Amino acid sequence: MAAAKLSEFGVNHVAKGIGRLSKEVIESGAGSYVKMMSGKRFLDFTSGIGVTNLGHCHPAVTKAAQAQVGTIVHGQVNIAFQKSYLELVEAMLPLMPHKSLDTFFFWNSGAEAVEAAVKLARHATKKQNIIVMQGSYHGRTFGTMAMTRSKTIYGLGYSPLMPGVFSVPFPYCSQCSVAKASDGKHNFENCCMDPITQLELLLQRETAPQDTAALFIEPVLGEGGYVPPPKEYMARLREICDKNKILLVCDEVQCGYGRTGKMFAVEHWGVRPDILIMAKGIANGFPLSAIASSKELMDTQPPGTMGGTYAGNAVSCAAGVAVAKAFKDESILDNVNARGAELRQTLQAAKDDPKTSKCAPGKGYASKIQAKCMEKGMLTLTTSIYDTLRFIPPLNITKEDMAEGCRILKEAIEEVAEGAQSDVKQSHTKTD
Ligand SMILES: Cc1ncc(COP(=O)(O)O)c(C=O)c1O
Repeated sequence: MAAAKLSEFGVNHVAKGIGRLSKEVIESGAGSYVKMMSGKRFLDFTSGIGVTNLGHCHPAVTKAAQAQVGTIVHGQVNIAFQKSYLELVEAMLPLMPHKSLDTFFFWNSGAEAVEAAVKLARHATKKQNIIVMQGSYHGRTFGTMAMTRSKTIYGLGYSPLMPGVFSVPFPYCSQCSVAKASDGKHNFENCCMDPITQLELLLQRETAPQDTAALFIEPVLGEGGYVPPPKEYMARLREICDKNKILLVCDEVQCGYGRTGKMFAVEHWGVRPDILIMAKGIANGFPLSAIASSKELMDTQPPGTMGGTYAGNAVSCAAGVAVAKAFKDESILDNVNARGAELRQTLQAAKDDPKTSKCAPGKGYASKIQAKCMEKGMLTLTTSIYDTLRFIPPLNITKEDMAEGCRILKEAIEEVAEGAQSDVKQSHTKTD
């Protein structure tokens, strides 16, 4: 069937509830690039929303998955142990940010792993309520819709959702009203720590510690705007959780597995999570998610309460083993830090350049730059309720591909700034 015909036919039969960036049809991917059926090729700074973090069709991951497909595809976890599952446990153990995280449960999606963490937290503590961060994203299932606080669209029209979920502000210093009113006294370097006060108040006013099982946090806010917390914040959360016997659950589905330059984002603050949630990049595109916790906590769950037909699929686990090996063999974290510095330099230069920093692009600035990038052959994503562009290039992107991405981004920023300036000039001319 001709390319255009195939896509036209299928498009009319796909659920409308799926939003998407482009109407193109993805045909193939290799490394940092995806190719569309239209013949267009894009530098992929989305990595399928932080999934193909070692690039599309990473050779070692593909090879491991192909070998597993020819060995056994589905070795169901409630029937027996499975070889690639156990190999993945062994491969992930040394990567954990704390030695207490020594026991694993695998599922398929990130949302399922978040729900597994809720189940474990409730079961282990014999308490019900959970606290989440405003701005957080945890998924689209009924449990996780109730926990997602990044945009109202995710829960719109689907109530009633899971009860017992309370929220507190994330320390989003660049948007914080206390910081804005402080005349420069408070900022990211000198946070007012109001979100900690708000948490303490929440535990007094709305959900008592005796009723609160866990506090869930993305250590770097993902969908909410790619926001790291200020220096002392995570340690303060750990103290509050310890004092009130509340489990600290870190959702590193998006910020984990190398994305921040360390294997896990919590390592930046040396804080121990009681439960760590992982998905997305752990199998580079094969459906796989995981929670890790202490054996003591995990063993509180009686056999039969956890599982799932596809949980810890053999092919996904084999891919996961290859991913973990690639991190070591290819010094992925070194590349993240080197390429990350180059991207940061481009952004800093745009900020320092009076032509681009002084323009008044107005609302929709991020979407305009995103559209320009796309015209120029690069996919990026926006995020959060604010004007935010997010960059999720593969962690093993080459220096050359990063340079190309930075060139496109610089041009896109400049062209949007020029457009904004000429809009301003035209409006002056009209009113003069
Ligand atoms: C932090 C975080 N948690 C959970 C999820 C849900 O993962 P999934 O889409 O695989 O269900 C996401 C997805 O973007 C995420 O970013």
